[in-house]
Amino acid sequence: MSSTGKPLLDVLRCSPVTRRPIWFMRQAGRYLPEYRKVREQAGSFLELCYNPAAAAEVTVQPLRRFDIDAAILFADILVVPHAMGLDLRFEDGEGPLLGTVRDVQEVNALKQLENSWQLKSICETVALASEGIAKHVAMIGFCGGPWTVACYMIEGKSSDWQFAKLVAYRRESWFIRLIERLVEESVEYLSAQIDAGVEVVQVFDSWAGELTGRLRREFVIAPLSEMTRRLHERHPNVPIILFAKGLGTDHGTLAEASKCAALGIEAELSMSWAAGNIGHEMVLQGNLDPISLLGGEQIAASEAVELAKAIPSYRHIFNLGHGIKVGTAPETIGAVVEAVRNWDRAHASP
Ligand code: CP3
Repeated sequence: MSSTGKPLLDVLRCSPVTRRPIWFMRQAGRYLPEYRKVREQAGSFLELCYNPAAAAEVTVQPLRRFDIDAAILFADILVVPHAMGLDLRFEDGEGPLLGTVRDVQEVNALKQLENSWQLKSICETVALASEGIAKHVAMIGFCGGPWTVACYMIEGKSSDWQFAKLVAYRRESWFIRLIERLVEESVEYLSAQIDAGVEVVQVFDSWAGELTGRLRREFVIAPLSEMTRRLHERHPNVPIILFAKGLGTDHGTLAEASKCAALGIEAELSMSWAAGNIGHEMVLQGNLDPISLLGGEQIAASEAVELAKAIPSYRHIFNLGHGIKVGTAPETIGAVVEAVRNWDRAHASP
C-alpha cells in the first residue's frame, strides 16, 4: 500500500511510514494559556463544547505550537448521555455532575441521539476543525466506552465505581440493556462524526481496568468488539483505536476479539513487554507517563526516548498513557516531540 501523506493513517493502515506519528491525550486543555482564554470567553466548559467555532479553535491550537500528527475533536465522552437526555454540568474542581440511570424505566426513557442539537453541534465542530488543519494532520473523533460511560450514568459523578461494579456483578437486566443502548448510540455518534470528516476514531474506556475476569469480557471486551464490528461494516476504511485503560495483560484478548487497528496502552504497562506480547506486530499507542512531563524538559525528553526505543516507529503512535496534567509546561511537550523526532532521525533504517 502506498503512503497516504498522513503519518497517523499510514501507521494505522500498515502503509510505509514517513515518520512516527505523535499526538497527546488532552492536547487541548487548561495547560495551554490560549485554551484558557477561549474557554473564559465561551463561559463554561460545556458551553465551549457546544460552540462549534470556539471548539474548533481549541481543537487546532496545539497544532500551532507543536509538530504533531493529529487533531482530536474537542468535546467530551459525556456528550452521549447528555444527548440521550441526562442533565450534565461541570463544576470547577469537581468534575462532571450527570443525571443518573438506575432502573429499567430510566433506561427506557433514554433518547436516541440522532437529530439531537448536541450531535449537530459536534459535527459542525468536526467540519470546521477539519478545514483548519494541515494536509499531513489526521482528524480523530472519539467517544467513551460503554462501560465507562455507564459508570458515570450510574454514579452521577467521578467515583471509585463501587455501585456500578456491583450492578455489573449482579448482572441487573437494566444494566445489560444500558450497555446495549450505549453500544448503539456510540456507533451512531461515531458514524456521524465520520460523515462529518473525522478520519480515525478512538474509544476511551477509561475505567476498563476496574472490571476483572468474566465481567471484563462481558462488559468491556464484548461491547467494544461489537462497536468495532458495526463500525467496520459501515466505514470499512476508518481505523479504530481502542483505549481500554488498565487491561494490562488482557489487551491482547481485546485486540483479537475486536480486530481494531491499534490499542492504547496505559503508562503502568511496560511498552517493551506490550510490543513483544500483544498480537502479531499490533500497532500500539502510548504510553509515556503524564507525570514525567511535570518533571520538566530534560526528564520528559529522556523518558520519551526510552519509550521510542521500546517499539519501532512503523507500529507505534507516540502518546501518553493518560491525559496531560494541568500544570504541564507547554515547552515540555515541545521538548518531547523534538526528542522523539531526533531519535527517530538518528535511527532511521536506510
Ligand atoms: O484534547 C483532547 O483530548 C480532546 C478533548 C477531550 C476532553 N475530554 C476534554 C475535557 C477528550 C478526548 C475527553 C475524554 C474524556 N472525558 C474522558 C476519557 C479520557 C480520560 O481522561 O480518561 C473522560 C473520563 C472524560 C470525563 C471528564 N471530562 C472528566 C472526569 C472531567 C473532569 C476532569 C478534568 O480534567 O477536569 C472532564 C472535563 C474535561 N474534558 C476537560 C477537558 C479539556 C477539563 C474541563 C475544563 O476546561 O475545565
